Parts: sequence; C-alpha cells; structure tokens
Amino acid sequence: MVEDGNVLLSSVVASSAKLQAQYGGVVPELAARSHIEVVNSVVQQALDDAECGWDDIDAIAVTYGPGLGGSLLVGVLTARTLAIVHNKPLYAVNHVEAHVYSNFLTKVKGSRQAVTPTYNLPAAQPTFPLLALVVSGGHTQLVLFRDHHDYTLLGQTHDDAIGEAFDKVAKILGLPYPGGPGVERLAREGDATAYHFPKARLAHISPGLQALRDSKHKTREATIPHSAEPKATSPTSRLLPYAATHSYDFSFSGLKTAVLRAAQQAVGADHTLPSKDLPQRLSEAHKANIAASFTRVAFETVVDKTLAAYAEFCPTSVVIAGGVAASPELRRQLSKRLPCPIEYTDARLCTDNAAMIATLGYFHAARQMPVANAYTLDIHPNLSM
Ligand code: KG4
Ligand code: ZN
Repeated sequence: MVEDGNVLLSSVVASSAKLQAQYGGVVPELAARSHIEVVNSVVQQALDDAECGWDDIDAIAVTYGPGLGGSLLVGVLTARTLAIVHNKPLYAVNHVEAHVYSNFLTKVKGSRQAVTPTYNLPAAQPTFPLLALVVSGGHTQLVLFRDHHDYTLLGQTHDDAIGEAFDKVAKILGLPYPGGPGVERLAREGDATAYHFPKARLAHISPGLQALRDSKHKTREATIPHSAEPKATSPTSRLLPYAATHSYDFSFSGLKTAVLRAAQQAVGADHTLPSKDLPQRLSEAHKANIAASFTRVAFETVVDKTLAAYAEFCPTSVVIAGGVAASPELRRQLSKRLPCPIEYTDARLCTDNAAMIATLGYFHAARQMPVANAYTLDIHPNLSM
C-alpha cells in the first residue's frame, strides 16, 4: 500500500521462488494456481501491515500486462471484485512502466519501520526528463520519460531479456533459479577477462526513437541558426561520444550460446553435450571464470547503452528498475561510469512487487487518467510500453 505516490505503507510479496527452484523456472499453470491460493491473504496482510481498513483506501491499482496470462487473470479478477465490493475506482497499469515507479518511493510510514527491516530508499523522487533502464527476467529496455505517462521506448531486446540470460547461464553452471544472484556471487571469485564473450551489435532503430530524433532535429533547426550553432561542450558530450545513428536495442541470445559453447569446450566436449550434464563436469575455477566473464559483458552492454542514451538525451535523472536492478555489481558499474549522481531503491522493490503498481496507480489517479471498468477490464499479456 502506498500514500501520496511516495510513502510506502506496506509491501507484501508472496514468492513462488521455492516452487520455481524445484522446476528450474516458472511453470505458468503452477504460478497461476499459487497466485489463487495466496491472493486473499496477501491483500489482508497488506491492509494489516499498513494498519488500514477499506475506508482508508482511495483507489485500487492492478497490472493488466505484460505477463503470464494465468497470473494476470488472478490479479485482475481479484482487483475487479474488490473494486466492485468496496466501491473504489480501479486503475489498470503497465507492469514494466510500474517497475520504474519503485524509484518514486522515498519514505516509509513510521509503524511500518517497526514491522520490517528498514528500507533503503532514494532521498528524493527522480525528475523529468528521466532515463530508465528496465532490466528484468522478461524485459531489457531503455525508456525516456518526458513526464508521467509521456514516454518513448528507445530500445529493447530482440530475444532474451538480461535476467533470462542470467537464469540460463545459472543452469549451465548448476546454480538454482532465479539465477542472477548466484551467478553474480560466483562471478566475484572468477577472472572477468578469462573468456571474451561477444557483445551484440544491432542496427535497428525503434520507430519511437526515430520520431524523437526527427523532432529533435527539427526543433534544433528551427531554434538555432546553423552558423551560430555552438560546439558540443557539455561535460556529457565530451565524455561520452555517441552516434546519432546509435541503436538502443539489445540481444542476449548470442551471449548465452557463447557461454554454453565455452562450457562445453572447457570440459573437452562438443556442442552435442546437453547443458544439464555440464555442472558436474565443470571445475569450480571454470565456473567462476565463466560467471565473471559473462557478468562483465552482460552488464557492460546495458551500461554502455545507458551512457550513450544519457549523452544523447541529457536527462535530469537516471533510474534502473526490474529484478536485475537489485544487482550490486550493476549498480557499482553504473555509478562509476555515469557522469551524474544516481540513486537506487531497495533491492526488495526492484524485483516484482505490488508497491510499484500502487505508486503508478497513484499517478494515474492524481492526473485524472481514465478509470478502468471493473466489470470488463481484460488482461493484455503482450502489452508493450
Ligand atoms: O523483475 P523480476 O522480479 O521479474 C520479472 O518481471 O521478470 O526479475 C527477475 C529477474 C530474474 O531473471 C533474476 O535472475 C534477476 O531478476 N535477478 C538478478 C539479481 N537478482 C534478481 N540478476 C542479476 N543479479 C542479481 N543480483
Ligand atoms: Zn517484473
């Protein structure tokens, strides 16, 4: 539960991580069933932790996509029912956009501090224009926000998301799902230059990015006479050269395959050796070196593109969001290379949670965005930004 778009009142997460670890990933039907089993008690716990009753609630927010159909259905049907029963307005929000809004939480209400260990939140809300790097198990995107609800998708992955690549590499190394934290921990013991894994080079420009570049070009031409145009002297343009043809798209499937081939080679096998046979044959040194080399390339890729987008669009804030944003190593690399201060939110608010949904819901309500129809709201598993 969230108050005024910046105060965290409660955050209850029922994780099916144990179930996922058992099956090595998310099984859609099992995920939906476990949602049904816990959803009512999670809602009640959120109210109890915040010491609130339904009379204190102004509105309900729910994510209607993107995501797994079964899980979205459980959430949407629950929210629709609660909105009708308690006569509250219902706001339907985009799950990926909501990840960015975990960075807008800056305070925890007093009583909550006593219930859970203190949350490490940013001191202030980010400002616009805002550059957001969304890195999760399902998404890898760079998004430029001009204001709330006014944004352009600069680029996204063509295949695997970065979190998915971490999860697949974890499998090759015999680490449990979700793989990110384990791969990163193992990487600390290895040599990050032992393997030279490839970085994908993409030329694709998203339609939104092209339109943004065209409009930027026109604005500059209209306002600055060519002869008088100043040389680029801002600290960012000196530090971070970028091409106006730069693509902000990503691809991680080649990197994942390169890791698989390197692991097969390290044990003297060819490409026919299945990945499930690798963990018991790889030495601990090989595993650590593969983890370190993969982590370096994966993080360098997203940090390089974030820096290029920063140089091109000069945002006043940069945020990272999504499960992979919990990574201390990604935070370290970004803070080191970005020529502006960056604040990070608590790792518990980076992975999937309902507080980020409520925060974006608040901004829908505050800006008088259309309310969803509680009798007809449908899910959109492939909803994009
Ligand atoms: O946002 P999220 O909780 O769920 C999705 O919407 O996908 O992200 C989960 C992803 C998983 O792929 C997991 O491996 C990754 O986040 N992850 C990490 C770390 N913690 C979680 N990846 C790298 N380093 C971490 N510390
Ligand atoms: Zn997510």
